Amino acid sequence: MRMYSELAPWFHLLTHPSDYTDEAAFVTRVVDDVVEGEARTLLELGSGGGNNASHLKARFECTLTDISPEMLALSKTLNPECKHLEGDMRTLRLDRTFDVVFIHDAISYLTTEEDLRAAIETAALHVRPGGVVILTPDATTEIFKPGTDHGGHDGEDGRSLRYLEWTHPLESPEATTYVMDYLIAARGPGEKFRIVHDRHTLGVFPEATWERLLADAGLDLVDTTVENPYELEQAAFVARRPT
Ligand SMILES: C[S@@+](CC[C@H](N)C(=O)[O-])C[C@H]1O[C@@H](n2cnc3c(N)ncnc32)[C@H](O)[C@@H]1O
Repeated sequence: MRMYSELAPWFHLLTHPSDYTDEAAFVTRVVDDVVEGEARTLLELGSGGGNNASHLKARFECTLTDISPEMLALSKTLNPECKHLEGDMRTLRLDRTFDVVFIHDAISYLTTEEDLRAAIETAALHVRPGGVVILTPDATTEIFKPGTDHGGHDGEDGRSLRYLEWTHPLESPEATTYVMDYLIAARGPGEKFRIVHDRHTLGVFPEATWERLLADAGLDLVDTTVENPYELEQAAFVARRPT
């Protein structure tokens, strides 16, 4: 995907760290509600531009991991105090545990149940007993909605970006993947202007699949009462490793 490689230096103009205040606050409230004992360390899998981390680092000692070296390089500019490691969430093994393991929208890039199982196993292996795993995929089969969205930001360095995001319908009710087309207009520096089309294929699974995979990984699903700011727009699965 060009968004996470050649366009990575533009990612904060596509989605700015300030867009993530509510989401990061949700993660912190879930941790306060669910973790047994002190919660100080957080591992994020698929941390991208480090937008969530830019808020979470005020509360947690964050270890940020992503499959894209370009996205890690961008995140380092925003979060130089966090540890950054390159790794695939399906196979990453750090031989240590954390109080919190968080996977935000990056988990939506897993398009088969086998890959989703592998990522959930990675999360389970890296959370301490009494700690929490928080997964917030873009959609489940139940809440998936096709549609369009747009946005973008002006930078302070003379660059600006605008995008159209087009989520296409599922090909069948049983489909476990869907396609999103991004049309990205990138302006600057100076008079430079280019338009990029980037096609992303994402995964979508029924809630029951998520719940089964979390249970198979030895995690207890927690029915937290913490209000999700993205209720009905984005799913949230919260699970604790038993003590
Ligand atoms: C939308 S971005 C994440 C943005 C992030 N939520 C933030 O706060 O900036 C999605 C990220 O998922 C990463 N990704 C996709 N598949 C991955 C995998 N198998 N393992 C690790 N990272 C992955 C991409 O490289 C990309 O950086």
